Amino acid sequence: MNHYDAIVLGAGAAGLMAAISAGQRGRKVLVLDHAPQVGSKILISGGGRCNFTNTGTVPDRFLSANPHFARSALARYTPRHFIELVQKHRIPFHEKTLGQLFCDHSARDIVAMLLAECTAAGVEIRTGTRVIEVSKPDHFRVETSRGTATAPALVLATGGLSIPKMGATGLSLDLARRFGLPLVETRPGLVPLTFEGEMLALMRPLSGVALPAVARAGRAKFPEAVLFTHRGLSGPAILQISSYWRPGQPIALDLLPGQDPTALLLERKKARPRAEPRTILAEFLPQRLAQALAEAWLPPAEMANQTDKALRAVGERLRSLSLTPAGTEGYAKAEVMLGGVDTNALSSRSLEAKAVPGLFVVGEAVDVTGWLGGYNFQWAWASGWCAGEAI
Ligand code: FDA
Repeated sequence: MNHYDAIVLGAGAAGLMAAISAGQRGRKVLVLDHAPQVGSKILISGGGRCNFTNTGTVPDRFLSANPHFARSALARYTPRHFIELVQKHRIPFHEKTLGQLFCDHSARDIVAMLLAECTAAGVEIRTGTRVIEVSKPDHFRVETSRGTATAPALVLATGGLSIPKMGATGLSLDLARRFGLPLVETRPGLVPLTFEGEMLALMRPLSGVALPAVARAGRAKFPEAVLFTHRGLSGPAILQISSYWRPGQPIALDLLPGQDPTALLLERKKARPRAEPRTILAEFLPQRLAQALAEAWLPPAEMANQTDKALRAVGERLRSLSLTPAGTEGYAKAEVMLGGVDTNALSSRSLEAKAVPGLFVVGEAVDVTGWLGGYNFQWAWASGWCAGEAI
């Protein structure tokens, strides 16, 4: 290893894209990764099919202390650009739902595509390489388990802290801090929520039950599936809301979206007076959930013997069930990390540190986090591409 135009730390989505765009512009690029293979998270993403972008990408689908920061990169490298790349490599894909594009076959196709682009652009990739020390006497100097390399540009692209079992580390955050860049507090995002006490006692036996619902936290609201787990709640609606949830806050669930549960229950009391409440609830909810809620919320009597007041109270809870999570399942289960390198320290056009010329931060290490549904990869591609264009 010796002198390059740029050294990229992290051969994930953002790092490979930065290397490709810089390499295509004739830059001599070295990518270093401690993992034995490139793009480990790409390989496991989207259940192995990689939800590689979202055609509905707009800046308000991203969380950041500065919600405007992502605008420039997202506008310069759009889902259309990535789709063109996927089509150029003849990778078959489909839209699953809500603009989410997945590979028909395997996420391996996306990694193979990125590697082919790296090869074509002359990018050198070293996997299984540990970063020992980074300094900047003049140029950046990266000392590794396989030798030392120098370059006038260094790209921090080692991602976030989620799934440490797969080799996630805080290297980019540590180096950013060392070079004087401020950080926004980090926490797990797109993560299942955990509950304790009576609430968990109600949820645990329902593990595996899923239903369409609307989850809310503050002003954020997501109409998607909710899934009961042995530790609490998961499913897309919960993962989405988890990024907006703060410890101590309640979340609210509408378990019968688009319906008026109180009116339904009072009408059924007249229409089916001999029916058990759990049978009535099972007309609208999964059977196991209907049974658990009827047992927890109503006395054991047929509909005719339930008071209107009690049915109204159940209706109200079905419409807006307020629950206070005990916590989240943490980085071990989080799809992303929220927070990261403070965007105030970076150029929104090039992702270069304003105070450290030649230092770039891209992908999940930056305080920009997307919703579930392909947005995080789109941010990785866009931020990586913009940095590569500036090197
Ligand atoms: P990324 O994590 O991709 O890459 C970082 C690289 O740096 C890795 O190769 C790692 O080995 C390397 N590295 C880390 N520490 C290092 C060190 N100390 N030294 C050297 N190298 C180091 N998003 C989406 O849009 N659609 C989806 O379908 C999914 N699905 C999904 C599933 C699961 C289970 C997870 C955990 C996450 C997703 N995501 C997702 C999120 C998405 O994977 C994530 O946002 C991007 O991979 C972030 O790209 P980066 O390049 O920033 O980091």
